[in-house]
Amino acid sequence: MALVLLKDDQISVKASVGTTMRKVAQATGASMEFGCRVGDCATCVATVERGMEYLSPLTEKERKAMSLIENADEKMRLMCQCSVISEEGEIEISYIHSC
Ligand code: FES
Repeated sequence: MALVLLKDDQISVKASVGTTMRKVAQATGASMEFGCRVGDCATCVATVERGMEYLSPLTEKERKAMSLIENADEKMRLMCQCSVISEEGEIEISYIHSC
């Protein structure tokens, strides 16, 4: 299992392959915010501080939603759309930001 660090709530938890970051956040009670949960609203945008390589690749749908975010960069992902793809590694996420 990969180790997921939810930086803004100081939570660390192991997550198995296929687990979405939304499930990780909700299972741990993290303060990450969600809206549509299907990749349309971008409410769940967060910054992957480390471990992008352990997350599923950006989909076309996610890319489209991200294009609507001002000042988006390549470290930002939608937490309802990406999932763990590795049995090892560390993924560090921060999600309290102004945008
Ligand atoms: S909750 Fe709407 S895009 Fe993730």
